[in-house]
Amino acid sequence: MADDEKDPFEVFNNSTGSGLVRNPYPRFAELRGQCPVHEGMMGQLFDIPILDQSAFSATGSYFTACSYAAVAQVLLDGETFSSSGYGPTMGLVFGHSILEMDDPEHHKYRSLLQQAFSQKAMDRWERDLVAPIVARCIDRFADRGRADLVRELTFPFPLEVIAGMLGLPAADLPRFHRLAVELISIAVDIERGLNASQLLRDYFGDVLALRRANPGEDLVSVLATAELDGQRLTDEEIFAFLRLLLPAGAETTYRSSSNLLYGLLTNPDQLDALRADRSLMKRAIEEGLRWEAPLTQIARTATKEVMVDGVAVPQGAVIGVCLGAANHDAKRWDDPERFDLFREPKQHMAFAYGPHTCLGMHLARMETRVVIDAVLDRLPKLRLDPDAEDVHVTGLTFRAPATLPVVFG
Ligand code: HEM
Repeated sequence: MADDEKDPFEVFNNSTGSGLVRNPYPRFAELRGQCPVHEGMMGQLFDIPILDQSAFSATGSYFTACSYAAVAQVLLDGETFSSSGYGPTMGLVFGHSILEMDDPEHHKYRSLLQQAFSQKAMDRWERDLVAPIVARCIDRFADRGRADLVRELTFPFPLEVIAGMLGLPAADLPRFHRLAVELISIAVDIERGLNASQLLRDYFGDVLALRRANPGEDLVSVLATAELDGQRLTDEEIFAFLRLLLPAGAETTYRSSSNLLYGLLTNPDQLDALRADRSLMKRAIEEGLRWEAPLTQIARTATKEVMVDGVAVPQGAVIGVCLGAANHDAKRWDDPERFDLFREPKQHMAFAYGPHTCLGMHLARMETRVVIDAVLDRLPKLRLDPDAEDVHVTGLTFRAPATLPVVFG
């Protein structure tokens, strides 16, 4: 069967190596207990053959930061810990995106992009896109009494939201979805990832030309006209950002809402508490992100020899920054392995920290709030399907359940 005909979720799920590690948290705790920073890449520390060189090291030297203190130190100091190592890796598919920039370029570019994520835009996206898209997804199964919340809700809705933010016609959605999935598959199939990158550039080229001629309120029009100190984004910079939006904005949000639903469904007392008192929603969202961060690892490169939480790291070394391990640091959270929405919220690392803190975090939180509210409002007596076997969150770098079979009503 050609990939065009396959279920996009299958293609996607097979491309992220998600089944290799089921629960990395005991090993994270062991590593953190031994030392806050380890020599070696995450795959080596887990002794599994995965390609986790998310950033390139010219010196061949790799470290992994596991404690909250080490992760915070690295992410806060963009001068000592550069993001440029993403260039020869992820830059191949995205182009020169904000992810691989350091200051002063990063600051300037981020200020321009931030214009697209205003409160006004957020309110409009919630009303015109997120709420109706989530409602349409739930309409399709609300009368059935059972559903797979991953396949039918959390996987499809964030990509539709991004497509809506870009003002893409509904007819383009299947093609856009397929290219987005193929772009992400770069980790296992470089040719396919590069091909999708080029096809997306051609596709966005046509969209950008249309918006320049006839600007609207959509994100492409905003990016085409954003201006700071007389400077505008070039076409290539816009394409790089648009390509980054797919994995950054759709894949992560699918995972965060799935993981929170999993936390609630496996702790029915907390699900009931949230259903009864929606003022707990903020805490629930932050606890879901802390407990099961969608992305457990990012990377930086040391621009000089430096001590990281007491461990010497040489110049040129790539440091894997383990957000998942930091979020379970027992020095910061009591009983960190437990999902507990009643916890006092504290800064966590799921959206990173410092200059590259996630640009879409308010959007991600809003999307998660809308989807969880809709699930609680529309699916009474929601519970995991008692006939389903072994529902669980899985993955080392990217984490989510592959399925969430539920019954309700
Ligand atoms: C729960 C959902 C999300 C999570 C967990 C998440 C996580 C992250 C993390 C960890 C980073 C830092 C990457 C690094 O520096 O190496 C990041 C950056 C970024 N995220 Fe998110 N993200 C989420 C949703 C979104 C959404 C919805 C959007 C936009 C639509 C978005 C856009 C971005 C962008 C543009 C950056 C780059 C910021 C910069 O380099 O200055 N993210 N995100």
